[in-house]
Order: sequence, then C-alpha cells, then structure tokens
Amino acid sequence: MTFFWSSWITILSFMCWAFILAILLMVLKYKPKLEEDGTTGHTYDGIQEYDKPLPKWWLVIFFGSIVWGVAYWVFFPAMFPKHWDGLATVEVDGETVPWSSKNELYSELESNNKVFTDNFEQNILAKADASGATSTLATLADMQATMRHSETPPADLQAQIDEKVAELSPYVEKLSENPNALKVGSRLFLQNCSVCHGSNAKGAVGYPNLTDNDWLYGGEAANILTTLHNGRVGGMAAWRDQIGEDGVRAVSEYVLSISGNQEGYDLDQTMVAQGKVIFNEPTNCVLCHGSDAKGMISTGAPNLTDDIWLYGGDRETVRETLRYGRAGVMPEWQTKLGNERIMLLAAYVYSLSDRTAQPAAKASPATTAVPVTAAATAN
Ligand code: HEC
Ligand code: HEC
Repeated sequence: MTFFWSSWITILSFMCWAFILAILLMVLKYKPKLEEDGTTGHTYDGIQEYDKPLPKWWLVIFFGSIVWGVAYWVFFPAMFPKHWDGLATVEVDGETVPWSSKNELYSELESNNKVFTDNFEQNILAKADASGATSTLATLADMQATMRHSETPPADLQAQIDEKVAELSPYVEKLSENPNALKVGSRLFLQNCSVCHGSNAKGAVGYPNLTDNDWLYGGEAANILTTLHNGRVGGMAAWRDQIGEDGVRAVSEYVLSISGNQEGYDLDQTMVAQGKVIFNEPTNCVLCHGSDAKGMISTGAPNLTDDIWLYGGDRETVRETLRYGRAGVMPEWQTKLGNERIMLLAAYVYSLSDRTAQPAAKASPATTAVPVTAAATAN
C-alpha cells in the first residue's frame, strides 16, 4: 500500500472513531430542562418524552466497541501499517514474528506441514522399515534453517546439505518398494510434476521421460534426490556464432551419423568428416558430451549415440539445437515441497524408472561429477 492510501485509511478510520466517541459523550452530557412531572414537555401524538438514562447493556457494548477499536489498532498493523507492526505475533520457522496475513498463512502452513511430516514418519517411514531417515531428516532441516537465517552462510554449508540429501537415498530405495509411499508419491507427482513430465511421466519434447533408463543427471536415488532438491538447468550454448552455419550443418551431419536413428538419412560423408573434427576439438562438444558422445551426468549433456531425444533427432531439429542452443529448466522443489515430500517423489520416480538394463550405472556416486564411462555406457 502506498503512503497516501495508508494515511487516507488511517485518517478516515480515526476520524470516524473520534466522531462516534464525541457524539456519545455529548449525548451523555446533555441534560434537558425537565417539567415538574419529570417529562421534557415534548409530546408526540399524545406520547410524552421522559429523559431516562441510556440502558447499561447498550452503553457497555458501545464503549466496548470503541475500546475494541483502539485495541485493534494497537495489536494489528492497522494504523500506518508500514510504520506500525502491531503487538500481535505469530510463530514462523521457530521465530516469533509480527502478525501479518502472510506470516499467519506461513504459520498455518507450517502446522499443517507438521501434521503431514508426523504422519509421514509414523505411517510411512516406520512401516517401510526406514525409520533411520528420521534423524537424517532432522539434521537436514537444521542445516537448511541455518542456511535460510544466516545472511552469510558458511561456505561449505550447501555442500554439506547436498551430502545429507544424498544420505537419504537408501531410504528412498526402501520407500520405492512400499505401496503406501508410492500412492502418496504418485499423487504428489500428478499435482506438481505432470504439467511438464506428463501424467504417465513419459515426458514430452524438452521434458525428459522418467520411465526409461536414459538419464541426463543420473537415475540413482541420490541423483534423483539432488535433481529434485536443487533443480537443474541444461546448458547447451548456441554454436552458430562460433562455428558458422556451415559448421552447424557439418556437426549436425556428424551427430546424425553417430546417433541411433541414422536410418533413412542420406548422409553427406564429407560433412560428417568435417563435423567429426569440430566435435572433437577439446573445447567443443566433447567437453560436455564426452569423447564417446554418450553424455555425462555431471554436465547434464545427453547421450547422442542412442535414439532417445530430448528435443528431436531429425536433421532440422538437430541443426536448430546447434544454431540456437537449448536450456531446459527443471525447477527446484526443496523450498516448495520440503524434504519429506521430495523423498516420496524420488521414491515414486525411482520406482517408475527402468532399472533392469542399467547395471553399470550402479557404481556412479551421486552428487559428484562422474566421468562419462560409468553412466553413459549403460544407456
Ligand atoms: C516446469 C516444468 C517442470 C516441472 C514442473 C518439473 N520438471 Fe522435472 N524436469 C524438467 C526439465 C525441463 C528437465 C530437464 C532439464 C534439462 O533439460 O537439463 C527435468 C528433469 C527432471 C529430472 C532429471 C531427468 C534426467 O534425465 O536426469 C527428474 C528426475 C525430474 N525432472 C523429476 C521431476 C519431478 C519429480 C517433478 C515434480 C516435483 C518435476 N520434475 C517437475 C521440467 C520440469
Ligand atoms: C557446455 C556443455 C555442452 C557443450 C560444449 C555442448 N553441449 Fe550439446 N548439450 C548440452 C546439454 C546440457 C544439453 C541438454 C540441454 C537441455 O537439457 O536443455 C545438450 C543437448 C544437445 C543436443 C540435443 C539432444 C537431444 O536429445 O535433443 C544435441 C544434438 C547436442 N547437444 C549436440 C552438441 C554438439 C554437436 C555440440 C558441439 C558443437 C555440443 N552439443 C556442445 C551440453 C553441451
């Protein structure tokens, strides 16, 4: 609210309050001259007027509401709300903060969330034989609170948080076999994720399929947890300015030649050879996609040798990708859903994914950069 409107409302409500108080006092003070029979001498249609005191209950209510008005101003940010927070407070995030409709909402969300997390611990974690997660979750919540509250958080705190998150992965694996957890997880997925990944989690152009064994950032429970907590941004720069349109065409031809969908394409072998040279320059494509072009989960660069495409594997789409670059954004969920719901979602995604054909990736550590071989050969 601007200062003008806040003053406008403040002055109007104060004037209204003062006016009512003044009228009441005036009426109370007013003593008309009485006739000998105790009436004021006024007669209306044969009815005589007395001067009786106002009823007590009425006065009590009237003065009561005037006092209530003042109390309201004192307790709530009603007068010049920018300058007066009011005495009323609520608890948010373990701290006592001035009342505001926003803080009240946060406070209520927190207590509702507590109902959810208590239920999660007692009815899901305990029954899925994963109670051990409780203490990890508590430590994690403490670390996150420190992160939120300190203006200059310790430099390595985020790394410690990421590590704690990864420690939840064995429990996520357990939850992924628990029907109750999966039921809640699937509902959370429909509410939060299906807009982008589809209600069957099979994805769409630009949104990865989560049910296969092809992963941009790794399909281990710990990888999925990290993806959900922090979000991901795929960074594939535009190449036209660097390698020119001819370069784009050549390297696209090379990409088609190594991909799993080259059938039906009449490839220009001179361009393929030129493209291969560009691809393998140490600061070009190999940097992120790896020397075998099978992608790297540390950079989120996809495997280019299979027939699974994020944006499309036809000649024109590959050229588009190279000309203008791509930057798919997976939002972060930690602040929106909290650790418990993320565990359920990770368990659900883990349960959907095709794990049978991915034995080699088992070895890949989750949060650290992983060289191409382990993750990629599995795709
Ligand atoms: C606004 C759209 C959007 C929403 C909503 C969204 N995602 Fe994503 N997600 C993406 C995009 C885009 C990517 C790929 C990022 C990239 O291109 O680097 C992605 C990537 C992922 C990955 C990594 C896939 C891989 O191959 O490594 C997982 C796992 C995932 N999302 C799960 C979820 C879950 C679970 C939710 C719900 C809590 C969700 N996403 C909600 C857009 C979204
Ligand atoms: C800085 C790292 C990086 C470099 C360098 C890089 N890429 Fe990428 N590339 C990515 C990432 C990350 C994605 C996924 C983008 C997204 O998720 O939105 C991608 C996506 C692609 C795609 C789309 C694949 C699909 O499934 O639709 C193609 C094709 C591709 N890159 C080819 C190349 C070629 C050819 C080069 C060299 C000229 C190159 N990339 C250089 C990181 C890189």
